[in-house]
Amino acid sequence: MGMYDIIDKKKRGGEFTRQEIEYFINGYVEGMVPDYQVAALLMAIYYQGMSDNELLDMTNIMANSGEINDLSGIEGIKVDKHSTGGVGDKTTLVVAPVVAACGGKVAKMSGRGLGFTGGTIDKLESIPGFKTSIPKEKFFDIVNNTGLSVIGQSGEIAPADKKLYALRDVTATVDSIPLIAASIMSKKLAAGSDKIVLDVTTGTGAFMKNIDDAVTLAQKMVAIGEGAGRNTVAYITNMDVPLGIATGNNIEVIEAIETLKGNGPEDFKEICMNFSAAMLSLAGKGNMEECLSMAAQAIENNSALGKLAEMTRMQGGDDRYIYDTSLFDKAPYSYKWISGSDMYIIQMDTEQCGKAAVMLGAGREVKDSKIDFTAGIKFYKKTGDYVQTGDIIAELYSSSKEKLDMASKYIKNAYKTGSIRPEKQKTIIAYITKDSVIKY
Ligand code: URA
Repeated sequence: MGMYDIIDKKKRGGEFTRQEIEYFINGYVEGMVPDYQVAALLMAIYYQGMSDNELLDMTNIMANSGEINDLSGIEGIKVDKHSTGGVGDKTTLVVAPVVAACGGKVAKMSGRGLGFTGGTIDKLESIPGFKTSIPKEKFFDIVNNTGLSVIGQSGEIAPADKKLYALRDVTATVDSIPLIAASIMSKKLAAGSDKIVLDVTTGTGAFMKNIDDAVTLAQKMVAIGEGAGRNTVAYITNMDVPLGIATGNNIEVIEAIETLKGNGPEDFKEICMNFSAAMLSLAGKGNMEECLSMAAQAIENNSALGKLAEMTRMQGGDDRYIYDTSLFDKAPYSYKWISGSDMYIIQMDTEQCGKAAVMLGAGREVKDSKIDFTAGIKFYKKTGDYVQTGDIIAELYSSSKEKLDMASKYIKNAYKTGSIRPEKQKTIIAYITKDSVIKY
């Protein structure tokens, strides 16, 4: 067996054996197989795809290329949640405390912002003192005592994915459905939870620009999870508009806290309640209806808010911020975009909205950029809304006047307006299990 034959086989549409996949994945991680041959192979996979068996083998081999988290030190069923990314996606900050308040266990590893999409770890670090890098024993301890802990992903998790992703990024092979499925699921399997709820976003602010591709990706990831013995379900959700109102870091934390107090925006509440219920149901706490009502109760009786405060305290953060959001720093500069006419918002380019937030300082323009936790955008009017002269469409925040001026001009190109009311968009588009696709 050699790399030349492996590349040639896939180029002709052949199906790999497990041994062949082990050869190129392990060989690449160990430095025995060069970048140029793996690059050619990735492009062959991009065009020829992979069968379900190949995909499961490849994902397992990638997961086993590094440390596999053994969560057996945490009592009970551990449930994880993963989003393929978006703008304004602060779901973990609500869902994890709600699930913990209802008796579920969430031992979660999250990521940082990537390109125009935000990351949970950056958001949590906008709470003063909050540590996202803690020893494993402490992580286990916090989950055992409070039901939840969210930390940054360790470098030891799926190193094969880290190396492959970097190569995909420079060889135009990121947007391959099987490669995305293996990449995400290798990290989820290595992270160690028993059950997984996936959020596959679709639209202008997502990797998957159309619903059919999102459904295919979700089905592939669910098949991998189930094939690896982890119950997995997926939601397809709308990322044609930013989620909720706030996009940034501390302004998203504040929106999550408001949601835990029962005051969140409708689209965000709907997603959080459904994901929490799905996670609780997978954890054996009841059927969806029962779990939805448990989740609603955890908001009503403030127990979920209490869980966020507990986790914050246990991870070194100042929990006074959870109960009094006026303590959070505010951006020194802001700009209100006020409508000069009456009109409908017909469409938003959500990727452009995310890029405007990065421009303001809420994300990284280069790998080592320092994040401005106060920067971001509040989208008061979104697709489908009617705007009257004088209404605030959006408000932008930054610590830099120059960045604010630049992003204020840029954001206006992300909106398309008109006089005809557009069709109402759904927040949740579909729910996918191993043997069904339920359209909402
Ligand atoms: N997120 C990942 O972790 N991997 C991909 O390939 C795409 C999104």
